[in-house]
Amino acid sequence: MTLPGSPFLARRDGSLQLDGVDLQALAQRFGTPLYVYSQAAMLDALASYQRALAGRRHLVCYAMKANSNLAVLQTFAQAGCGFDIVSGGELARVLAAGGRADRVVFSGVGKTRAEMLQALQVGVRCFNVESESELRRLSAVAREAGAVAAVSLRVNPDVDAGTHPYISTGLRENKFGIAHERAREVYRLAASLPGLKVVGIDCHIGSQITQTAPYLDALDRLLDLVEALEAEGIAIAHIDIGGGLGITYPDETPPRPGELVAQVLARMDARGHGQRELLLEPGRSLVGNAGVLLTEVLYLKPGPAKNFCIVDAAMNDLVRPALYEAWMAIEPLQQRATAAQRWDVVGPVCESGDWLGRERDLALAEGDFLAVLSAGAYGMTMASNYNTRPRAAEVMVVAGDAVLVREREPLVQLFGTERRLPTPSA
Ligand code: LLP
Repeated sequence: MTLPGSPFLARRDGSLQLDGVDLQALAQRFGTPLYVYSQAAMLDALASYQRALAGRRHLVCYAMKANSNLAVLQTFAQAGCGFDIVSGGELARVLAAGGRADRVVFSGVGKTRAEMLQALQVGVRCFNVESESELRRLSAVAREAGAVAAVSLRVNPDVDAGTHPYISTGLRENKFGIAHERAREVYRLAASLPGLKVVGIDCHIGSQITQTAPYLDALDRLLDLVEALEAEGIAIAHIDIGGGLGITYPDETPPRPGELVAQVLARMDARGHGQRELLLEPGRSLVGNAGVLLTEVLYLKPGPAKNFCIVDAAMNDLVRPALYEAWMAIEPLQQRATAAQRWDVVGPVCESGDWLGRERDLALAEGDFLAVLSAGAYGMTMASNYNTRPRAAEVMVVAGDAVLVREREPLVQLFGTERRLPTPSA
């Protein structure tokens, strides 16, 4: 049986397997909560982009905020990817994983001076700039460093990506990007500043997008601008259409990456921009369905209004349900023959909002293991230490072998940098 989302996840003889590896065995070997990723599933998702882009000038910049484990970054770097980063910390990770700085685009509305300098020193490919103040600051920092910063302006195309308000970013009321109607003026400023060189244009309209139409609308707006700017003598070498392509959680049917890319390229061709380099910043669609979060059932607590299944993973491990009311599939690692009951699957954290799934029909016993599916994106990267809970371990399945790619966080690391107050002198 194949499960929603990933052809790499299957049930055989009642046991859930990721890329042919028995997940219950991993839960027992490495303990829970445990994130498990399939390298093959990640590479398969990337290949869908790459096949459609073959023969075209392009760079896939993996939006590493989705999953920034070094082994994941290494996997994508070796497959030729660049990276979309949003902090100096992410830049350090890319370099530690063996990624190339000249394939990094630096996004984000609030880059600090120190982060700009760090990125200039290692030679990132491009800064995706989001405001005039940022342009001026970047120019000044580049001048002081004796460097020239390559810039693209993130244009807010004001298109509705039709997604959750917290992850919709391309609307006028969002904090992101430079308003479409002001973009030309801001490009003129960029072209005039001494520490900058204009190289591109970008947008990112939101996340978990399940249609191609908003991308094509945004692309049209970018191409209108490119034509107007080039008519003024401001050359735009690349177009970056951001990330945001959705995945299947319960039943969404987003286009495959290859379909989206084919439509984007066709629109570029139709408008005479076939030679222009295309950048993309996919995050979730590369890793989301390549990962699961494994957890053990600690207690079953049937009640008058609700039945609670208390597991050892919590909102600190996976915050998407609590934060966005995201629905993520939950599957037992071993199927039971007993009748299913309806459960709210909740964690040990002291908040009513600490749930992973509500009203799920599951046949369960204490000590069973469960998997939260589609947890490869925005799972571990959004984990916290709330309730002084160490963050989960991470395992990657590589060619049939389970490799520990992050140890469970030792407790001492949780408060090892804290200091007790000095004892008052008598
Ligand atoms: N590029 C930029 C500039 C972004 O802000 C993002 C995501 C991406 C690319 C990648 O988008 P993706 O392909 O992953 O949709 N924590 C939320 C998602 C937040 C996305 C933020 N920006 C979630 O768990 O649904």
